[in-house]
Amino acid sequence: MFVTSKFGKVNAEMGRRLFEIRTVALVSQKQFISSQKDVNVEEFFKFYSENSFHDDRYKPLSEPDYERFFSKRSLLREPAVTRQITSLSYKVGKEMISLAEGMPNEQVFPFTRLTLDTKSSSIKLEGKELAAALQYIPSQGLPALITELKAFQNESHRPPELPRDILVTNGGQHGIYQCVDLLVDVGDPVITTEYAYTGIHTALKPYKPEIIGISEDKDGMIPETLDSVLGERLRRGLKMPKMMYIIPTGSNPTGTVITEERRRQIYELACRYDFLIVEDDPYIFLNYTERQTPSFLSLDTCGRVLRLDSFSKVVSSGLRGAWITAPSPLLYRLQLHMQAELLHSCTLAQAILLHLVSCRKSLASHLLGAREFYSRRRDALHTALAPLASTIPFHKPDAGLFFWLRVPGVDDVYNMVFHTALQRGLMLIPGHAFLPYNAPCQYLRLTFSKIKYEDMDSAVRTLSSIIKDEQQRTLEKPKRLATEG
Ligand SMILES: Cc1ncc(COP(=O)(O)O)c(C=O)c1O
Repeated sequence: MFVTSKFGKVNAEMGRRLFEIRTVALVSQKQFISSQKDVNVEEFFKFYSENSFHDDRYKPLSEPDYERFFSKRSLLREPAVTRQITSLSYKVGKEMISLAEGMPNEQVFPFTRLTLDTKSSSIKLEGKELAAALQYIPSQGLPALITELKAFQNESHRPPELPRDILVTNGGQHGIYQCVDLLVDVGDPVITTEYAYTGIHTALKPYKPEIIGISEDKDGMIPETLDSVLGERLRRGLKMPKMMYIIPTGSNPTGTVITEERRRQIYELACRYDFLIVEDDPYIFLNYTERQTPSFLSLDTCGRVLRLDSFSKVVSSGLRGAWITAPSPLLYRLQLHMQAELLHSCTLAQAILLHLVSCRKSLASHLLGAREFYSRRRDALHTALAPLASTIPFHKPDAGLFFWLRVPGVDDVYNMVFHTALQRGLMLIPGHAFLPYNAPCQYLRLTFSKIKYEDMDSAVRTLSSIIKDEQQRTLEKPKRLATEG
């Protein structure tokens, strides 16, 4: 459950009146997409298990406990008085005369109406609603959107009752960057999967971290490996990681969905070895199985999960609509970072997001359509790849947008991708993109989100011939003798 944080408390106490006015204004048109599909909304947004379980060995973290996780930089952040005033202005009544705010007057803005047509309806912003959507807002996000997202997270994940809060970010990548800034100091160890989304590596790189890459199989990260690696570090007195970054659904690049049992095991290891989990889940709505897998947030009895949600893959990537759900003491510090970095994420995008989230039925209907759209493409590429299946090991992904292929008989796919494939008109991503260091790599990631159906067969034929040529070249390459230096 969400309990207001330090700054959230101020919001609650002081801002009710103005919040209410704006909430009404900004959710007045809930019909962004007419319901084309009949969806059981509650089932569709169910990312929790009925079998809640609390391991009594582990206590919830208290506010002072979080101090040990904060980076030195984050601990130095302080609130900006002007930002506090902006938050206040959203909370006090209209009768308050203000000589304080540095806000521009909306009357000088050139816009009078914004109509955003969807495939079957439209979002209209005008008058006060448009003015509010074009104005500065508190760093945490548009108050009405924060309220709506809290309700959405509560319904969808049913997180155990702890003080949690939400920060609207400028895309999921921004959330990743924020979490890294919050938790990582130079040289810190950080847990990821062996191959991980490029964006975590680019965010971490300047911190020269020690990446502890844990191997995966078709069910995602292997908890036994994680346990043994961390146990060994503990025995050897090595610095222990404070943060794990993990993509539970349709991992980028490997396409895996971590099973419920493994999620519980990994969560238990977080409690046992005392680290926080950054759960990056932008593919949660693109799970093609009938399995409902509880999120890490839904299992978070101790306040160890920072959950990142993003609408980039299913609503619009350019809108940058995303949010972090985290224990309040962590969220408070993230919000200080936001003050320094952006003031706040784009208000207009948040006003649009609010329309989308407040109508759950239309949203579920749209998301179901998106899932079916990608599922058909996944199946089509899988069929096209069938001729390769006897020689190249890969799984049909259960979620997300990617096939992950190992190319046997080729030590390193780099040249194949950047020379042969490009020359023959095929663009590929080599597995190197998902490693934190330079090393030979046998993997390729294939994305099925945008390729035309009619191009799939020819793409696979080209891929197959490139692979055969590369395998032949590798066979013909003179082998070094053991006696050579
Ligand atoms: C796992 C993962 N996290 C985050 C992102 C970034 O998404 P956003 O557009 O929300 O910043 C991506 C984009 O590919 C991704 O695959």
